[in-house]
Amino acid sequence: MTDTVLIKNAMLVNEGRQRRTDVLVKNDRIERIDANISAPERAKVIDADSLLLLPGMIDDQVHFREPGLTQKGDLASESAAAVAGGITSFMEMPNTSPTTTTRQALADKYVMAEGRCAANYAFYFGGSNDNIEELRRLPATDACGIKVFMGASTGNMLVDDEEVLEKIFAAAEIPVTTHCEHTPTILQNLEQATQRFGKDIPASAHPEIRSVEACLKSSKLAVSLAEKFGTRLHVLHLTTAEEMALFKPGDMPGKQITAEVCVHHLHFTADDYAELGNQIKCNPAVKAPRHREALLEAVNDGRIDIIATDHAPHLPSEKNSGNYITDAAGLPLAQHALPCAYEHVHAGRISIERLVQMTSHNPALRFQVSERGFVREGYFADLVLLRPDSPWTVSDDQCLSRCGWTPFSGQRFHGSIHTTLVNGQIVYSGNKIHNRHSGQRLVFDRH
Ligand code: DOR
Repeated sequence: MTDTVLIKNAMLVNEGRQRRTDVLVKNDRIERIDANISAPERAKVIDADSLLLLPGMIDDQVHFREPGLTQKGDLASESAAAVAGGITSFMEMPNTSPTTTTRQALADKYVMAEGRCAANYAFYFGGSNDNIEELRRLPATDACGIKVFMGASTGNMLVDDEEVLEKIFAAAEIPVTTHCEHTPTILQNLEQATQRFGKDIPASAHPEIRSVEACLKSSKLAVSLAEKFGTRLHVLHLTTAEEMALFKPGDMPGKQITAEVCVHHLHFTADDYAELGNQIKCNPAVKAPRHREALLEAVNDGRIDIIATDHAPHLPSEKNSGNYITDAAGLPLAQHALPCAYEHVHAGRISIERLVQMTSHNPALRFQVSERGFVREGYFADLVLLRPDSPWTVSDDQCLSRCGWTPFSGQRFHGSIHTTLVNGQIVYSGNKIHNRHSGQRLVFDRH
């Protein structure tokens, strides 16, 4: 345990601006932010002259597979991968086994997480076709949000009964997050693809099967339900130019309906199926380049509010059979979260201030996370030091995620994670995990 850490001369990126400063961390908190702080006795001093200092990423969408699917990953392995990628807090999805669709299953997850996570944690409560009473009894601070699969994906959690959707949107007092893809449209497209290709459907057909229309139809429904019932809606992993018309530009506080994009949808395009095949199969699908351009535009004008990962590990054997139907959807992404997103900063497509707003400030505001997401005196010391100009090549053998592979293998990134602190503890530095148990349960300011 390190009690005191002094970060010297870092370029702090926080709350819309950059400034050179020292930051003193004592126990689990940020004690002081100032120029020229002298090192207290026994402090660990980090020379951050050439580094950017950011608030740690709060990833509002991960699948860490515990309980029930731990051959793919568990809370310990995936949270270790997360801190290596600059994630200091995560919000985990309910499509585990059993699903997190009862208050008991949710409570069980918090017990499982205690003392085993490198990053701070919270869990979603899953809406289903038949758990509305359970959802109504859910205390507002128990889950980060409610997750509704308005399109079927990994796990059996589709909510396709519109009456139930209305009840969920009407009852929810905490953010409702949605996976939006219209399943009947997808099934129709799949039928057509099967007629065309027989059993050998190529990965490149995925965006035609999980089509723009399927996404738009479902997102439209989610937004209209939220408008009807005044629900605090957060639409997850948007992928299409057409859906961007559903969201309004502007800053987070005060927004009722918010939007998310994930790092892989900003990184890959349909052109990558030729090389990567089902490795980049995910739901919603990676789509044509014009969509990525539209997503980047919406990131910059504030129609999109949050960048997340949707970290969804599957074993190589579940991804690489070459059979489109049986190969699993989802990619391991947490370990490369900030380096991947930082590529857009390096290329001049997103400012570093905007990136920090979308990976740290806005998730904290959207979910009312207490005392995290900003570098402020008195707040928890969840911090990331990033090397801005240090090209490196990703390889599978550095993978911390239990699945042991990454869709970025062989790619060159320009930013790398130097150090990650969670609750004042150095959990990652020198390419190593140092403290696997620093994560605490997230607290939500909801009264
Ligand atoms: O591609 C995906 N994989 N999308 C999801 O919505 C779920 C995820 C998973 O859990 O594998």
